[in-house]
Amino acid sequence: MESNTNENTNNNINNNENEDNLSNNDLNNSWDGKKKEYDFVHDLEFTEELKQNAIKIINEDNILLNTDITNQNKNWEKFYKFNKTNFFQDRHYILKEFMELNNDTRPSISLLDMGCGVGNSFYPLIKIKNNLIVYAFDFSNRAINNAKTHKLYEKNKNRIFLKNLDLVNDEIDYPSCDYGILMFVLSAINPEYHEKIIEKISNKINKDGVVFFRDYAKYDMAQIRFAQRKKNKVDENLYMRKDKTLSYFFDQKEIENLFNKYNFQTIDSKLVSRVIENRKENKKMNRLWLQIKFKKI
Ligand SMILES: C[S@@+](CC[C@H](N)C(=O)[O-])C[C@H]1O[C@@H](n2cnc3c(N)ncnc32)[C@H](O)[C@@H]1O
Repeated sequence: MESNTNENTNNNINNNENEDNLSNNDLNNSWDGKKKEYDFVHDLEFTEELKQNAIKIINEDNILLNTDITNQNKNWEKFYKFNKTNFFQDRHYILKEFMELNNDTRPSISLLDMGCGVGNSFYPLIKIKNNLIVYAFDFSNRAINNAKTHKLYEKNKNRIFLKNLDLVNDEIDYPSCDYGILMFVLSAINPEYHEKIIEKISNKINKDGVVFFRDYAKYDMAQIRFAQRKKNKVDENLYMRKDKTLSYFFDQKEIENLFNKYNFQTIDSKLVSRVIENRKENKKMNRLWLQIKFKKI
């Protein structure tokens, strides 16, 4: 596992939104239940001891929910009905983290943003990259309509294509692109479909193109929370939130192997590990995400 020695540490989350490798979005991504205010972040050394503690808690949760996890679309439509555009914020850290795209000065480059939500990943890029064309989609109609209300949409309409599309059931009927983003999307989809989806994506990324994947890692605090409650588990590493959306926690090797099977080479793979704090309430949480870049060969 690669650590993140080059990233900002000791950041005040609220005051350093633009530079931070960890934004409020990622913190909110454990949104089950009441939203909490965390105001400080430090690097975390995810030790073997922390891992073993997590494994113990996770293994003690043996009760599987007997529930229907199909028709996730309905749950996400509800999510966007209530949260509109204000739940996640623009993920500015992508500018720093997706250097392959950011440094690409060719006259025209294309990006496929899959499960784009309201566009929090592609808007920071479109803002500074004049040579970028975005093909984005989400299976939530409300998310797509909400994405169109962003202040950058109208004046960039000629290079932002948005549509309603289901990664599981639909073909991706967009041109093949130079770059791809999968930002906290596969975790929302039953892992049974991951392989089929990755095969589909492989056909939509040009040779030498790069896909940026960021999502939950196994043993993240959110998984431990689910395990402690003992009423969210659907399957191994797969949980259902109160709002019925899914949350899958990835194993680094497992996800790399899946991409590698479909002509993607891992070019960068790291576990982003942070302690987040609520200093007022003296609460600390260990958050873990995977950030992996895959090059199409
Ligand atoms: C946690 S949100 C992340 C949104 C966005 N990528 C971001 O970073 O802000 C997960 C998104 O995946 C979308 N999604 C879930 N399952 C999908 C599917 N089968 N096809 C397309 N989009 C899907 C949801 O509607 C939701 O917008």
